[in-house]
Amino acid sequence: MGILPLLSTLSLLPLSLSSTIPHKPAPEYPYAGYLLSTFTDANPAVYWYLSSAENPLAFKPLNAGNPVLTSTVGTKGNRDIFLTANEERSEYFVITTDLDINAPGFSWDEATRRGSRGLVIWRSSNLIDWDEPYLATIESPQAGMAWAPSVIYNATEEEYYLFWASRLYSPSDTNHTGPANLDRIRYATTPDFISFSEPADYVALDDENIPLIDQEFLYLGQEGHYARFLKDENVLHVYQETTTTGLFGDWTRTQDGGEYIRASVYEGPAAFPDVRADGRYYLLMDNYVEYVPFVSEDVEEGEWAELGFNATGLPRGLKHGNVFLLTGREYEAVLKRFG
Ligand SMILES: *[C@@H]1O[C@H](CO)[C@@H](O)[C@H](O)[C@H]1NC(C)=O
Ligand SMILES: *[C@@H]1O[C@H](CO)[C@@H](O)[C@H](O)[C@H]1NC(C)=O
Ligand SMILES: *[C@@H]1O[C@H](CO)[C@@H](O)[C@H](O)[C@H]1NC(C)=O
Repeated sequence: MGILPLLSTLSLLPLSLSSTIPHKPAPEYPYAGYLLSTFTDANPAVYWYLSSAENPLAFKPLNAGNPVLTSTVGTKGNRDIFLTANEERSEYFVITTDLDINAPGFSWDEATRRGSRGLVIWRSSNLIDWDEPYLATIESPQAGMAWAPSVIYNATEEEYYLFWASRLYSPSDTNHTGPANLDRIRYATTPDFISFSEPADYVALDDENIPLIDQEFLYLGQEGHYARFLKDENVLHVYQETTTTGLFGDWTRTQDGGEYIRASVYEGPAAFPDVRADGRYYLLMDNYVEYVPFVSEDVEEGEWAELGFNATGLPRGLKHGNVFLLTGREYEAVLKRFG
């Protein structure tokens, strides 16, 4: 494929998260820990794991390892879990792909032609007590599915920007039996996850012939500065792009010459900052079996060093989800209810 492993060219960081990595003194972060939302292949429901600011990747299962939320709508299966909140932390949403790959007669072809065009959503006003789930149909009848939601909240507009992956069939092909265009990243805005704007393309690489799924953003601490991670479905690798001009600004592919974060099979990227070490970021990528942890202290250059499971305490077997930063109050509340 002409793709060389990037590992050899990276200056690897020590394989431990001890204080041996020099970093800028941390500013006063309000965060006390991390909440990881995920699912399992055996039971596609919402599972939570908690870690502290001291040991970001040492996630411990909550609710005695049982699901925190289980869908009663749509396919009743939840994959690709995403937890988000507004800036005031007065409302929280868990948003998932509506897909049960264990259902009788399941086929990926069917799931991408006549799959769910909705996302399963739960709302809470305190992160602890959750309303009943509902299915929000966010895609047009042309779409074959709606996968892998991710969200950025815009506090100025008081709108959530919701992203997902889909493919679209010809308007005349109402049963989606013919060809579709390539998987692409779509988006809509919503003030409340009840009413949504018309879905539109966000990233579509038909000209380059690259199908895309599994986009997730990483805020880089300054207005308009983000990284985003996307899975190229031709090669099944994840690549990174960065911008300094906002979600709809100019994005630059970080890895040189069309390379990837790793030239290995990965999907479901989830990225988050270290709340104590300014400029240190973590990236989890699912190798189809489990999340593998990576760390970067040079995220603008897209340099990610793989970390060991033992060194970090990351549990084995975690699947596509996201990591949400918890304030001290939220951390205590989650621990009290689900610890
Ligand atoms: C929110 O929207 C405003 C107005 O469209 C824009 O200027 C700003 O950059 C956006 N902020 C984020 C965090 O996307
Ligand atoms: C759509 O196509 C599928 C697969 O061929 C078929 O099972 C189904 O009955 C069709 N539905 C309609 C409304 O034609
Ligand atoms: C990680 O820990 C397990 C359990 O203690 C041990 O069996 C394994 O050898 C360790 N792996 C590495 C790479 O140190």
